Amino acid sequence: MSFVPADPPSRRPLGRARSLAPRAGAGAVLLALAIGTAGCSVKGADNANLILGKQTFVAKCGSCHALARADTKGTVGPNLDAAFHASLAEGLERSTVRGVVEGQIRLPNPEGAMPKDLVTGAKLKDIAAYVAQVVDVPGKDAGLLASAVEAPGAGKPAVETAGKLAIAASPTGQLAYVTNQATATPGSVIVEMPNVSGVPHNIAIESGAHGATAGGAVLGASQFTTKGTASVTVKLTPGTYTFFCQAPGHRAAGMYGTLTVKP
Ligand code: HEC
Repeated sequence: MSFVPADPPSRRPLGRARSLAPRAGAGAVLLALAIGTAGCSVKGADNANLILGKQTFVAKCGSCHALARADTKGTVGPNLDAAFHASLAEGLERSTVRGVVEGQIRLPNPEGAMPKDLVTGAKLKDIAAYVAQVVDVPGKDAGLLASAVEAPGAGKPAVETAGKLAIAASPTGQLAYVTNQATATPGSVIVEMPNVSGVPHNIAIESGAHGATAGGAVLGASQFTTKGTASVTVKLTPGTYTFFCQAPGHRAAGMYGTLTVKP
């Protein structure tokens, strides 16, 4: 059963995918689920490349959308697992989800915050195929898909040398820095944040180790940059600090780390 939406997705309010759900028998639902979750296959329908789809999703979509399988936690747009949950439960086919995602990328709501044509061509197909396969599917990606994107913040700790400490934003577009650990010696330190991701980030330093939620006093914060290097100079005394991004939702999504200052 294939269902082609008659009206462009841009005209659909959030969660409208719900009303697209064809009335499907239990058999059809099971079949759709079986296709959608088929093992660790890396080729989707039409030979879409699911690995590239996942990588591109993280780079281009994850800063605004949560999708559990891709480990993205953006909050600017709707949580995609939640957005499709009810429709899928009612029998919406994953091939239809794929069409909805493609349509949304081509024609997002002009009044919404989602830019038009973030990706085109094969990348668009790869992203839509990946999202359609994993959205609202419990568990974790397996096989090659599991290692398609490196874990956020897992890089080598950043170490201050000669008064400079570089902590880059993740180049993958994840809401994370390349590392969540840094060390420095006391005194005046220039904290630099190179960012090539295209997602706007900054870096702020707060006293104490507070993790994902705001805690201590903010000692200083850099400008925001989308592509470039932002920096801030802070005076550090021995102790523990948190470095984090002040863009709304980024810290909560995991864009923070611990800075340890030892004499
Ligand atoms: C700058 C933030 C931003 C980025 C980047 C972004 N989106 Fe969105 N997205 C939104 C917002 C806001 C909405 C809700 C309003 C609208 O429809 O435009 C949305 C809506 C959607 C919807 C519809 C959800 C529903 O409930 O019906 C889908 C699907 C979607 N986006 C997929 C994507 C994909 C795939 C990408 C990457 C190519 C992407 N988005 C990139 C902000 C973003």
